[in-house]
Amino acid sequence: MSTAQQVPDILSSEFAANPYPAYRVMRESAPLIWHEATRSYIVSRYEDVERVFKDKAGQFTTDNYDWQIEPVHGKTILQLSGREHAVRRALVAPAFRGSDLQEKFLPVIERNSRELIDTFRHTGSADLVTDYATRFPVNVIADMLGLDKADHPRFHQWYTSVIAFLGNLSGDPQVAADGERTRHEFAEYMLPIIRRRRNELGEDLLSTLCAAEVDGVRMSDEDIKAFCSLLLAAGGETTDKAIASIFANLLMHPDQLAAVREDRSLIPRAFAETLRYTPPVHMIMRQSATEVELSGGTIPAGVTVTCLIGAANRDGERYADPDRFDLFREDLTTTTAFSAAADHLAFALGRHFCVGALLAKAEVETGMNQLLDAMPDVRLAEGFDPVEQGVFTRGPQTLPVRFTPVAG
Ligand code: HEM
Repeated sequence: MSTAQQVPDILSSEFAANPYPAYRVMRESAPLIWHEATRSYIVSRYEDVERVFKDKAGQFTTDNYDWQIEPVHGKTILQLSGREHAVRRALVAPAFRGSDLQEKFLPVIERNSRELIDTFRHTGSADLVTDYATRFPVNVIADMLGLDKADHPRFHQWYTSVIAFLGNLSGDPQVAADGERTRHEFAEYMLPIIRRRRNELGEDLLSTLCAAEVDGVRMSDEDIKAFCSLLLAAGGETTDKAIASIFANLLMHPDQLAAVREDRSLIPRAFAETLRYTPPVHMIMRQSATEVELSGGTIPAGVTVTCLIGAANRDGERYADPDRFDLFREDLTTTTAFSAAADHLAFALGRHFCVGALLAKAEVETGMNQLLDAMPDVRLAEGFDPVEQGVFTRGPQTLPVRFTPVAG
């Protein structure tokens, strides 16, 4: 096992500016690191991260979310296991796939995307992050839940603070206090809505949660509030980063952008490669239940393990030329990229595999199609190079583009 001193610290500014060289050093010469500041073991190789996520031998738990997420959301499905997890996950899963997604929610996705594009389609310029990506997914979730979209600025502020809490690796007290405040503000906002909705059930996802019975018992208001808080944060921040990153990657590779513009059936390939190359979530933690043997050494029982998705997705043992963005690569399977059989790790794997993966795909496909129609000659603003930011979640914070408005 290696010590953290051999590679740039994951809390350093050097790492935040560009983690990819550090990921390479970790994979090649320090695949298991004890990191004192986060009191966790860091793993970076594809085979190790995949093994932890799949957890076939039942050696890992998600007890880390007791301190990582519960203080801001309350208890959520991320912390559950076994039948309890399966039953609760099944309450929302149908909304995010199949006929519910296609028939009920696709029109919601299309409308929300169009409304945002309408605000800039005639101007010839936009910031795809601030004008579009940070608003679109959270508006979709708010609509799916039947919440008032006029409250969008609040949802945005809340999910940003929740994600900051989740990624507060350095234990910044201000970030912790903001997270705590968000929990109270969200409860004050949501609990009266939940009580009203119980009496006026509709077709929305919040009504489904209000009506649902788990073993003959209705979920408590507090449980429903926690679920909504998770959906807004998990579905907002991640897809926001994904949309910004797919555009940044394509704008930086104009030949691939041209190919996608001509043949829209390539969008899922471009999205899958974006999830591999620049995943929105760079790290996910687990707790070891037993001693575990990994490629870089042995992890004791009862410790936190930090799984570096961003490093594993660029493992040269798994992907040829891993630091190259190539939507045509043959070692990434697009058909399974949005299911638990995915061979990239951006949605994790195993029982907590992202329940919103197909919703994210529908949002990205709709968004890309509508944006490319509205901005056929889209290009980066002159002199601008996209810059990724963030350590836990990561993506461009701004993406100014120029285009010739489409007549009519
Ligand atoms: C590109 C976009 C997305 C990415 C990269 C992403 C990433 C992830 C990851 C890595 C996990 C696993 C967490 C863990 O195992 O500890 C996860 C779980 C989850 N995601 Fe996503 N997500 C995305 C979109 C969404 C959307 C749109 C929703 C829907 C609202 C959503 C809802 C959830 C939920 C509820 C879980 C917990 C599942 C469980 O515990 O069984 N995600 N996501």
